[in-house]
Amino acid sequence: MKKVFAIVLTLALLCMATVASAAGLVGVAMPTQDLQRWNQDGANMKAQLEAAGFEVDLQYANNDVGMQVSQIENMILNEVQVLVVASIDGSALGTVLAQAKEAGIPIIAYDRLLTNTDAVDYYTTFDNYKVGQIQGQYIVDKFDLANTDKTYTIEFTAGSPDDNNAGLFFGGAFDTVKPYLDAGKLVCVSGQTDFATVATPAWKSETAQARMDNILSAYYPDALTGGQTLDICLCSNDSTALGVTNSLVAAGFTAENIPVITGQDCDKPNVKNMVKGLQAMSVFKDTRTLAAQTVAMCVSILNGETPELNGEYDNGLKMVPSFNCTPVFGDVSNYEELLIASGYYTAEEIAE
Ligand code: BGC
Repeated sequence: MKKVFAIVLTLALLCMATVASAAGLVGVAMPTQDLQRWNQDGANMKAQLEAAGFEVDLQYANNDVGMQVSQIENMILNEVQVLVVASIDGSALGTVLAQAKEAGIPIIAYDRLLTNTDAVDYYTTFDNYKVGQIQGQYIVDKFDLANTDKTYTIEFTAGSPDDNNAGLFFGGAFDTVKPYLDAGKLVCVSGQTDFATVATPAWKSETAQARMDNILSAYYPDALTGGQTLDICLCSNDSTALGVTNSLVAAGFTAENIPVITGQDCDKPNVKNMVKGLQAMSVFKDTRTLAAQTVAMCVSILNGETPELNGEYDNGLKMVPSFNCTPVFGDVSNYEELLIASGYYTAEEIAE
């Protein structure tokens, strides 16, 4: 009797496995588990792909390009039907992506563009330049730069130079505030305004923190005692904003006098900082929406249909057809609706 039960159970499990994989296997290559957003992206992609009937090979590469290459090689060997890649260095995967193309595997660049390769088929992302514009416009509005006679000081912190998004975020923000730098209403006391100088390799909080430590001691040593003040820290995302905030707090700034700090992602520590008055704003990019769009793209591709598209990005070798999701402004006034009521976080997750 036991034996019959075991056979029936095995058959049922086999049957379930066949149903689960009916739509095929999708390889999802993610950059790192260090930053919260990629954990969120990976979990959403896995859940939504599985709900659509796919099997999922989800890998994180610890921000190590070599590791990501070998993970993708394995996915090719495992005959994935679609490859979804959120790269570490968008320009460093040419060889392995060429192998995937050779094997007939469609490739979707996820969030970060895959550059200098003709193997990438599609790109799903948010409007990255717009993210920067939202940050820059926040500064323009907050300080009423169009009408003020005052001068405010600003320092910039951008993202990782190997991430195609980083230049777009910085470009969107910088282009928005540039007229006010030109007019002298904003002054960057350190003089560090070019992307290469303000970039943060691997988007590391510690690196952003160390650079802000140096800027504070070199250019704003007496900011808290009547000397040169610092009004604005325009940071491209939340991991860099966190480093900058930590630097300022360590130097003695509090919610009462900390510069206006921008961010992106609405990461949990940053939402907590917004509630505490230590970070002014962030930009919410709902990873559930990005995952849904990417899963829909996988389904369309495998059905031989053209996926829903609303833009294109030049990757150096080709124009990559893309779908851009919309980034949304977030701060202490709307985070409850944006993040908690929408089910993105529970209230406990961002309570102190
Ligand atoms: C993403 C951002 C993220 C950054 C660091 C970028 O490519 O678009 O949302 O903050 O990487 O992980």
